[in-house]
Amino acid sequence: MTAFPKTSALMQRGSDFLGSEYAILCGAMSWVSERNLVSAISNAGGFGVIACGAMTPDLLDTEIAATKALTGRPFGVNLITMHPALFDLIDVCAKQGVTHVVLAGGIPPKGSVEAIKAFGAKVIVFAPTLALAKKLLRSGGDALVIEGMEAGGHIGPVSTSVLAQEFLPALADDHLVFVAGGIGRGEAIAGYLEMGAVGVQLGTRFACASESIAHPAFKKAFIRANARDAITSVQVDPRLPVIPVRALKNKGTEEFTAKQIEVARLLDSESIEMGEAQLQIEHFWAGALRKAVIDGDVENGSLMAGQSVGMVKQEEPVADIIRQLMDESEAALARR
Ligand SMILES: Cc1cc2nc3c(=O)[nH]c(=O)nc-3n(C[C@H](O)[C@H](O)[C@H](O)COP(=O)(O)O)c2cc1C
Repeated sequence: MTAFPKTSALMQRGSDFLGSEYAILCGAMSWVSERNLVSAISNAGGFGVIACGAMTPDLLDTEIAATKALTGRPFGVNLITMHPALFDLIDVCAKQGVTHVVLAGGIPPKGSVEAIKAFGAKVIVFAPTLALAKKLLRSGGDALVIEGMEAGGHIGPVSTSVLAQEFLPALADDHLVFVAGGIGRGEAIAGYLEMGAVGVQLGTRFACASESIAHPAFKKAFIRANARDAITSVQVDPRLPVIPVRALKNKGTEEFTAKQIEVARLLDSESIEMGEAQLQIEHFWAGALRKAVIDGDVENGSLMAGQSVGMVKQEEPVADIIRQLMDESEAALARR
């Protein structure tokens, strides 16, 4: 008998799919979502996801093996679709017997979904529009995450509440949909579950967990911040389309403006092409995030955070965070 009967009942399809006790994913966070946080999330009944980010296939191989050594429970691997070695990374997941692969950062390239399904793993996809979501679910996606612009990291233009109203009534009966972006408390989880979501994905709320290896200065910045401090990056040149990133405002925010001007000049002088320009921008973010998460340089690094950062009040164990979320959801449903 579960301690959270109403919430667990609404999460049933999601937790069956993930193989976890609760259908709460900790979204992959580059540098943060490594063996320690991922295993802690899965051991606490949630579903951890390794952020492959810019890792090489060898590094990913090591990280998966190390995570398996820390948890016997299911976890996933998040691969960025524009990674130049995407298919080698998929081979690593196959070799390691990964059960769930999340494809993030763009439309999955031809053959990638098939390559993942070929070794029996489930594929979780993101989609910015309903039409694309339907297409991806038709062509092999097993579950969908909709992520609103309240989220931390790279974001789309639409809020979670609007995405939920657009996608859930259309898809929830026949498909597995998880909702992400701006979730800080269980009452919000209850609301999305009642709308038909089978589970949720949170990032910001877990970044400061005791088990997270993020630098103490990074965690301190999160604990101090309010929702309004988590702002989106600005595109300075209309010819250089950059995906907006939500992060706490600091000096690094301005450095991104300078980086865009530098890359736009290279485009102007035809020293580089658009694909290379976008890759340079993504490398900038990966480096800036590392500076903040690992080195603790909270001035110049990138403090990617969602608007729910205002609800991060202290460093606490993953199990406590998950319990609070489930308690709040259950109490909300009990009041209905
Ligand atoms: C510090 C940080 C790094 C992130 N890195 C990634 C990433 O590498 N890949 C990815 O798909 N999502 C990334 N995300 C998004 C999360 O996986 C998750 O979807 C998001 O945090 C959910 O919204 P929330 O922050 O409002 O909880 C990142 C988020 C944060 C806060």
